[in-house]
Amino acid sequence: MSFYLRGLAMAGSLMALGAPAFAQTEVKIGYALAPDSHYGVAAKTFEEAVRAETGDQFEFTHFPSSGLGGEREVIEGLQIGTIEATIVSSGTLANFVPETGVFDIPFLFRDLDHARAVLDGPIGEEILAEFDDVGLHGLAWGEQGFRHITNNRNAIETPADVEGLKIRTMENPVHQAAFDAMGAAPTPMAWPEVISSLQQGVIDGQENPLSVIVSVKLDEVQQYLTLSGHVYSPAMLLVSQPFWDGLDDSQKAAFETAATEAVGAMRAYVDDVETTGVETLKERGMEVNELSPEEKATFQEAISEAYDGYYETYGQDLVDSIVAYE
Ligand code: PAF
Repeated sequence: MSFYLRGLAMAGSLMALGAPAFAQTEVKIGYALAPDSHYGVAAKTFEEAVRAETGDQFEFTHFPSSGLGGEREVIEGLQIGTIEATIVSSGTLANFVPETGVFDIPFLFRDLDHARAVLDGPIGEEILAEFDDVGLHGLAWGEQGFRHITNNRNAIETPADVEGLKIRTMENPVHQAAFDAMGAAPTPMAWPEVISSLQQGVIDGQENPLSVIVSVKLDEVQQYLTLSGHVYSPAMLLVSQPFWDGLDDSQKAAFETAATEAVGAMRAYVDDVETTGVETLKERGMEVNELSPEEKATFQEAISEAYDGYYETYGQDLVDSIVAYE
């Protein structure tokens, strides 16, 4: 029997045994939050959409709740090709593509629609494309919502209330500069250490959107929630460049379609939790206060000195064009 016929016979017996006649490619996808969070919902949608487009070609293995480490470690895993995909916040993205930090500037976006329009428009697309230069491939911008402050020391109504507050920030210089300017004591920390640090009183508080506060049940370790909405929190669906380069054109198209569906699911989750989250957290016993526009203005004023540094780093033209984007 020729080599060709032997191959056909082997494929035939594998199909008869019900096994796929080709090797499936594994996609390990890591993310910091639980399967029922906005990240988990997006990752599941992503997997299902890839399967709908490609059949059995890819086998997904999910590593939720920082199962593969902190966000920085996971992105480094993508760069060296040991992890195929992730959904991450912008916490550490500026360490890989510095320009992403511009979206972390406090009080930059008016609302979710404004943020989504900018991220999906030419400015967001240009920054997404820069990930190709650092061993990664950005598939789509997702989001977490606007970040709010939680803490165990006191309710926060004015910048004086955050004076000296040991607040965990992401490992993100833009956020650190804002809390420095407010007179807080920002403590950058990788996410996997945050809950135990709050439990042990190493830090007084942290800041995250309702999507995170609700899904992580931060009410179990935090008493006060201030709806400060001080900064929008983008997320990104990223794949490893070695993995991406190994896909053919139809597989790449399938991953792109799936990414669009995944961020749609993530944004729908955020829309939902933005309307129901505060009630949920009150029912769970948190003391919640919302900043009035006048109170918010005092925080904007307090961090205005950080803006000089932001303009220097990102250019005032870029910041202004984001603010003016319709
Ligand atoms: O605060 C953070 O580090 C991020 O918002 C989190 C919770 C890891 C989600 O990406």
